[in-house]
Amino acid sequence: MYCTRQITPDLTYIGASDRRLALFENIYPIPHGVSYNSYLLTDEKTVLLDTVDHSVCLQFMENLEHALNGRKLDYLIVNHMEPDHAATIGEIVLRYPEVTIVANAKTIDMINQFFAFNANERSLVVKEGDTLNVGKHTLTFVMAPMVHWPEVMVTYDTTDKILFSADAFGSFGALNGHLFDDEIDFNHQYLDEARRYYTNIVGKYGPSVQALLKKASSLAINMICPLHGLIIRKNIAEFVAKYNLWSSYTPEEKGVMIAYASIYGNTENAINVLANKLSEKGVKNIAVYDVSSTDCSFIIADAFKYDRWVFASPTYNAGIFPKMEYVLHEIKAHNLQNRTVALLQNGSWAPTSGNLMKNILADLKNVNLLDNIPTIKSALKENQLQSLEELADCLK
Ligand code: FEO
Repeated sequence: MYCTRQITPDLTYIGASDRRLALFENIYPIPHGVSYNSYLLTDEKTVLLDTVDHSVCLQFMENLEHALNGRKLDYLIVNHMEPDHAATIGEIVLRYPEVTIVANAKTIDMINQFFAFNANERSLVVKEGDTLNVGKHTLTFVMAPMVHWPEVMVTYDTTDKILFSADAFGSFGALNGHLFDDEIDFNHQYLDEARRYYTNIVGKYGPSVQALLKKASSLAINMICPLHGLIIRKNIAEFVAKYNLWSSYTPEEKGVMIAYASIYGNTENAINVLANKLSEKGVKNIAVYDVSSTDCSFIIADAFKYDRWVFASPTYNAGIFPKMEYVLHEIKAHNLQNRTVALLQNGSWAPTSGNLMKNILADLKNVNLLDNIPTIKSALKENQLQSLEELADCLK
């Protein structure tokens, strides 16, 4: 059975959610599922805005057929070619052979890379600022390269002032009946997963996001329709403000994010002592994560959120504990900057993890790496409490 919702009299939500997938992009845990959003605009012409992942193809096709209500499909606008949105383009072309694909030249090249049919023969190639009139609605195309793929563009409906924003302003999480941000408590039920989605998927490309935000600031926007998650119509200014912070690597809040590795609990003990001291010194936001039990994507999200970090690791095979090393490389890969960072090392006979961690983080821009790296040899001792006290003083 079709499962759609009306957004405006002319615009229908025809996407679907997947609650079975364990790992989005085969890497990010999605305990609450994910939605693949697609939209059908019905005017003098019919316009499909992006498709969906293979996993929800049947539901999507049923939704599309229902929303078309017997009409033919005139246009498919492809804003983003990543397969979670583009995997079913081939199926669309088979079912609606008269459809014209509206996309930029890079996208057309990618369609030809991913699919066997020749996209050049059925495409309308658009570039920055081009418009497409489909009756009452006029659509404008705005290029958004490297948010987070090179071919990405967004589409702006100048008539209803709706921005179809591709991955931007998306979130992890299946849609549980709600479609609009004003149908839930946005800050408490939505923002954490929206942050984890943005920071991990798009976070590396802050300057590209800043460029898109600059272009979008000249548009009057009533509604943002992303490719994942809720449609934003109430919290537009607040969400854009969050994007502005995240994409400029500006901490969202004051707080200390602590990620530690611990083999037998001794490094963990030192971190718990440090966390107590931070709290006693008045630090309100303290987030403590064991890198072996918390997926890195949650740590990356909080690294974007807070202004101070602590990384603590045992020495392992004369190096950094592997799961901590992965976290640090991810921090570096996401281009994070503008933070204060403290390190703590453990090593029973030749502690080296502290300097090795420092070497990975040394290239980050505008990061204050504290010189004091407390060393634990096997287990924290009474005479080392002062060094944790001093570290806490530097971080409070
Ligand atoms: Fe949701 Fe970049 O794909």
